[in-house]
Amino acid sequence: MDQYCVFGNPIKQSRSPFIHQEFAKQTQQKISYQKQFVELDKFSQAVTTFISLGGKGANVTMPFKEQALQLCDQLSTAAQQAGAVNTLSFIDGKILGDNTDGIGLVQDLLANGVILQDSRVLLLGAGGAAKGVLLPLLNENPTAIVIANRTVSKAEQLCLQFNDKRLHACGFSDIPLQSFDLIINATSASLSGGYPDISAQLIQTDTVCYDMVYSKNLTPFLQWSKAQGAIKVIDGLGMLVAQAAASFNIWRGYLPKTELAINALKRELKEQNQ
Ligand code: ATR
Repeated sequence: MDQYCVFGNPIKQSRSPFIHQEFAKQTQQKISYQKQFVELDKFSQAVTTFISLGGKGANVTMPFKEQALQLCDQLSTAAQQAGAVNTLSFIDGKILGDNTDGIGLVQDLLANGVILQDSRVLLLGAGGAAKGVLLPLLNENPTAIVIANRTVSKAEQLCLQFNDKRLHACGFSDIPLQSFDLIINATSASLSGGYPDISAQLIQTDTVCYDMVYSKNLTPFLQWSKAQGAIKVIDGLGMLVAQAAASFNIWRGYLPKTELAINALKRELKEQNQ
């Protein structure tokens, strides 16, 4: 049976094994997909061991995505631009690195009926998560993407790196008060129960608010957005499944249907809450 895994620290919370087994069911294939907790200084060792045991591919989650990039013999454009790798493939003694986070976000937005073409997007955050989604977002032809970050210099740095006229950088307090079609929270503020401190005037009833993370209840950012009147709020569960589907496709040459896995995952989360 082909073996895959996800490396992370922490890793207990990972839903990737569940999602990949759902995909495998769709294709009536049998795969093994395990979670692997890795000590902070043992990432490269863990990958080498997994390869020697016959591993075919692996996902990489926090905090190893940058380290994973360093290990690769070959990188996709998405991984190069993101400066991070979330999908490793082990082929003929070589390590190939890709990044499916951005495509996962775009696919989930499109699946939710969000129109990106000619849209104005506000991206909150300028860390690894924001960086990883910039290129796929730009490829959907928005009119503008304003990157707002607590530390303005990091947002400016991203604009310089991607060097695209449609990108603008600012801090949370000087976001232009023009209407945005889509606001994406790519900060890690929700890990500490918070959300970015932006003006409530930015939220109109038709502003789509997206949080790249998900939790059993609405995330703090989405709760706040709803309270300001946003009708359409979307969490990152669909993105998680879509990026996993893109990884599955890289490894197995089949792009699974995400809807079935999203519903199965929602059911699973619900059952575990009871
Ligand atoms: P990730 O890989 O999740 O993006 P990261 O690279 O450490 O993690 O980046 C975290 C992002 O969340 C940064 O944009 C950070 O802002 P700073 O650059 O100013 O540190 C943002 N962030 C974290 N906690 C936040 C908070 N409480 N409010 C607003 N932004 C926050």
